[in-house]
Amino acid sequence: MSEDRNALRDIPVDKLLKHDAYDELAALAAEIAAHDAAYYQEDAPKVSDAEYDALRKRNDEIERKFPDLVRDDSPNKRVGAAVAQGFGKVSHNPPMLSLGNAFSADDVVEFYDRIRRFLSLSPEEPVEIVAEPKIDGLSVSLRYENGKFKQGATRGDGREGEDVTENLRTMREIPDTIEDAPAVIEVRGEVYMSKTDFLSLNQRQDEAGGKVFANPRNAAAGSLRQKDPSVTAARPLKIFLYAWGYVSGVNAQGYGGEIDWPDQWSFYDRLKKWGFPVNPYATVCKTFDDTMALYERLGTDRATLDYDIDGVVYKVNRLDWQQRLGFVSRAPRWATAHKFPAEKATTLVNKIDIQVGRTGTLTPVAHLEPITVGGVVVQRATLHNEDYIREKDIRVGDRVLIQRAGDVIPQVLEVDLDARKSPAPDPFEMPHTCPECGSLAVREEGQAAWRCTGGLICPAQAVERLKHFVSRDAFDIEGFGAKHIEAFWQEGIVKAPADIFRLAEKRDEIAGREGWGEKSADNLIAAIEHRRAIELARFIYSLGIRQVGQATARLLASRYGSFANWRDAMIAAADRNSEAYAELVDIDGIGPSMADDLIGFFAEDHNLSVLEGLEHELQIEDFVTADTSDSPISGKTLVFTGNLEAMSRGEAKARAEAMGAKVAGSVSKKTDLVIAGPGAGSKRKKAEDLGVQVIDEDAWMKILDGDAPQMQLL
Ligand code: IVH
Repeated sequence: MSEDRNALRDIPVDKLLKHDAYDELAALAAEIAAHDAAYYQEDAPKVSDAEYDALRKRNDEIERKFPDLVRDDSPNKRVGAAVAQGFGKVSHNPPMLSLGNAFSADDVVEFYDRIRRFLSLSPEEPVEIVAEPKIDGLSVSLRYENGKFKQGATRGDGREGEDVTENLRTMREIPDTIEDAPAVIEVRGEVYMSKTDFLSLNQRQDEAGGKVFANPRNAAAGSLRQKDPSVTAARPLKIFLYAWGYVSGVNAQGYGGEIDWPDQWSFYDRLKKWGFPVNPYATVCKTFDDTMALYERLGTDRATLDYDIDGVVYKVNRLDWQQRLGFVSRAPRWATAHKFPAEKATTLVNKIDIQVGRTGTLTPVAHLEPITVGGVVVQRATLHNEDYIREKDIRVGDRVLIQRAGDVIPQVLEVDLDARKSPAPDPFEMPHTCPECGSLAVREEGQAAWRCTGGLICPAQAVERLKHFVSRDAFDIEGFGAKHIEAFWQEGIVKAPADIFRLAEKRDEIAGREGWGEKSADNLIAAIEHRRAIELARFIYSLGIRQVGQATARLLASRYGSFANWRDAMIAAADRNSEAYAELVDIDGIGPSMADDLIGFFAEDHNLSVLEGLEHELQIEDFVTADTSDSPISGKTLVFTGNLEAMSRGEAKARAEAMGAKVAGSVSKKTDLVIAGPGAGSKRKKAEDLGVQVIDEDAWMKILDGDAPQMQLL
């Protein structure tokens, strides 16, 4: 920065001329950005906190006096998520998916059946599967442009991950250039650390007084997320590739464009040609028996392999089938993970206590004598509910067999009754009042759970709801997690969701808290600002309504479009004879019990005032559908009835929705089009009575092929 601008800073803000203010804001923006980079990315601040704060303060004063000069790159707009973490953000398009699970051979049969049903294949038609180990590491996406490695990112939440390009560049197994590749291609795979390397790394770390990792996966993750790439370079990371993401010209699901491999298996050949490691166990399985044989073989080899695997992944080989099968929520229908049996161990129950969840459910939790299961120390296990404890007769002091499967909370499988002390400890009784707020606890008929009736006067429920509100799939406020909510709640800084968006008013109080400071308070406030605009589906999910998970939230968002529409409809649906109620339960995927929970949520005044508070603070964005404006069925309500031959009902529904249509379960005045296959009965008749257009499957196929205009549809 030049001397004369420094001199400007001696001029009190109220004497500052506008054109000088303009120059000074530009200089401050650049200077503060450089300090942020030094602090977060390089971990090497160049000024003291006080000097930094003085710059921020000066910037804020000038901005306040000249609001029309506030720059797009003002430090107050810029700081936030990305910077606070030290890694830039990379969005994944198409998203990085997770996988459904199969735990038994029956589940795998069901996986094959589902595929056959969805694609309307005969039972004789072979379905080739590519099977390979499920590597217990962390997934990454590597982007190559014109054959050069340009960017690498972690999975993050699947939609957005962290930019760890320079760290990945240090890995020998990742080629810097690839030949004969599409102009742009992202390849995806799993970074891991071998068991041998993990043990010797831990030994070195221990000797040097550094961090010792719990298992190879944590070691791999910790090594990749280093601020200094030379640290990563010194860590023995490896990778197996198994998927692609964006390829020049692909569609939103990741197919088409410059993809010229016909199946999953040919893609692996291509990966190998480019120089990427592909797992040597990867095999094309022609039959179900081949698939099971590989599973058995890997189950045996597992113990002697030098890397951790937790199952076998099955993927449909044909790409045209993959594309038709598509996704459910975040997982492809064309792939699944067949998990190995969970690891087991025995230990003692030291205590049983009760956790109160977001919706008031009282969950008994066993505190165990710590024990290592599959490389992880386990100290607690969920006991689910009263019936579970009773059925297994679990008592304090018992020796129990526990199991841990992947990241799932450990379970108690059985009690060793022979080891029970005598006199036997008393059977466990669920409390009849909430241990957190003392309100009455009730167990409703037909329900397994005891529930606290305290609603939001119960601090545990209120806090859990707030934690859910800021969690990763909800508001996801960077640097503001469950621990902060807990502390802010205790101190009365945040009592309701909307309070979070008024924290700027408490900036000084936050900055003065132990472990905080000006900079971290400002970062928090910036991260919160960053989330003031939120997609409708995320918003609905964040409310933590019972039974309303992400998939349901998305269904509701797509059906109602805007927050106001949704809210009005939910309030109107309280009248079970209303059209609003009929419309709600008519949504494929929403049944009467879920409808009850939605209506129940809106029936509570307290919830309405929470919503009102939030509406003032937020911009809740309308649901945006993919551009389906040239689709003949965009915005139309369709009903399928009878049998379809070329595709299953599920595929027909998915295809219709992808073209912007809504699919309803019953025919009404609002129905625009009924697709009736052979065997259609009452729905077809009702459509005819109401004068709703009815077409057959051939006509439906024409719509899918884009031939609809000739049919003068609708
Ligand atoms: S395929 C669309 N193959 O498992 C398919 N995933 O539980 C995307 N994983 O996020 C994944 N080994 O991190 C695939 N051979 C393998 C894998 C694998 C490990 C991980 C991956 C994914 C997670 C899902």
